[in-house]
Amino acid sequence: MKFKKPLDSLLKEASETGEGTLKRTLSAGNLVALGIGAIIGAGLFVRTAAAAADHAGPSVTLSFILAAVGCGLAGLCYAEFASMIPIAGSAYTYSYATMGEVVAWVIGWDLVLEYAVGAATVSIAWSEYLNKLLETFGVSIPYAFCHSPFQVSPDGVNGMINLPALFIVAVLSLVLIKGTKESANINGIIVILKVAIVVVFIVIGWSYMNPVNHAPYIPVNIGEQEFFSGKKHFLDYFENDFGKFGMSGIVSGAGVVFFAFIGFDAVSTAAQEAKNPKRDMPIGILVSLVICTILYVLFSHVLTGVANYHEFATAGKEASVAYAIETYMHGYGWLSILITVAILAGFSSVILVMLLGQSRVFFSMSKDGLVPKVFSEVHPKYQTPYKSNLIFLVFVGLFAAFVPGDVVGDMTSIGTLFAFVLVCIGVIVMRKSDPNTPRPFRTPWMPVLPIIGALACILMMIGLGKHNWERLIVWMLIGFVIYFSYSIKHSVVRNKENKEI
Ligand code: ALA
Repeated sequence: MKFKKPLDSLLKEASETGEGTLKRTLSAGNLVALGIGAIIGAGLFVRTAAAAADHAGPSVTLSFILAAVGCGLAGLCYAEFASMIPIAGSAYTYSYATMGEVVAWVIGWDLVLEYAVGAATVSIAWSEYLNKLLETFGVSIPYAFCHSPFQVSPDGVNGMINLPALFIVAVLSLVLIKGTKESANINGIIVILKVAIVVVFIVIGWSYMNPVNHAPYIPVNIGEQEFFSGKKHFLDYFENDFGKFGMSGIVSGAGVVFFAFIGFDAVSTAAQEAKNPKRDMPIGILVSLVICTILYVLFSHVLTGVANYHEFATAGKEASVAYAIETYMHGYGWLSILITVAILAGFSSVILVMLLGQSRVFFSMSKDGLVPKVFSEVHPKYQTPYKSNLIFLVFVGLFAAFVPGDVVGDMTSIGTLFAFVLVCIGVIVMRKSDPNTPRPFRTPWMPVLPIIGALACILMMIGLGKHNWERLIVWMLIGFVIYFSYSIKHSVVRNKENKEI
């Protein structure tokens, strides 16, 4: 038997107010700001350079377009769900109503990769830019104390612990405990700052682009050419050449920069705090996505034009944007400092929204009995799930302190892509199983768009390669152990239905 959460009870939960529930304080404008606040971050300022250096070169712009297509289509599906089921919990909640408890668990567990591990990724990027900023003032944190034990510096120093990353996670967890409304206001200011620096970099950097850096726009992948001309076996190509520039490099690059889009769905996790969720959810999701896509394509075009993508594998590997400005845009040292400060603030807002998303998903899962009650205990004064925030402070802090940014970044991407695939499928299932439930926002061209969305996301998952698949599978297996040993026994829906039978 499939245990599903009935839509009526979900909607009732959404309209409840008072003790033990969350306050409705966010407007459409707040939600778009929340979206952009979550979206522009380490993906743009750190992962773009990594994708260009390792996979796509200047054609990372095309990677952004591919990633945007996948996200946009999944975004439409999210918007339909979010307008239909306006309560906290994001993809988790939607799947509980559509595909049953097991899939809901898979998604909820998977979202930990998106939000918690994602927050760790951004905090590691924060640490890189903090170092860059300190360097301009002649100070620097010793390599060992701002890198994980799995990293070694070019001159052979081993990393030990990433203290700045741990620090920022701790500070922001405490901010969250104080409350969403205050955090949303700070977020609004940071969003403006963040968009401003992206635009300034595009405008000023445009005249510093060197056409040589853009030629060829899609770097050649010889193995790929041999495969397409029939001189190489597919398995040989897939094992040794796939994703290393050429067309497949664009796909792999898309998997990496996909990280830059993660977060628009965090808007949906705040549905329970939105004043008018039915109208404002789709606006929040789609408007933030469109604005960011335009900015990303322009930004990455300028970045790979100002500095050569090869440099992002060596001297410009960390804090790449500041590197490009300092090295090639002479006279703009002040801009580098300003951008670095804004990036630090920007990253903070991303981490904040991700931590918020994480605690909200576990809030819902805990109300449903799938994870322990401690995750939904609300602070008597601040009305925030403070114990959950504290637990995730420790969890995210461990990743931030001890795992390299590339590893957590790609784990976040693959986990989120997987959730998106399930959401795309879920919206099709829901149209069949609950055709009559009102949908203030409907995904157009059903089922073609969700199918293309799912395929685009699967393609990017393939682009992320074997090791990330292995990590995803291990994470999911851990999740299943918890599900079958704990959640099944405590599930509210399951216990209720079993009693009724
Ligand atoms: N999209 C967010 C970022 O790029 C997660 O940092």
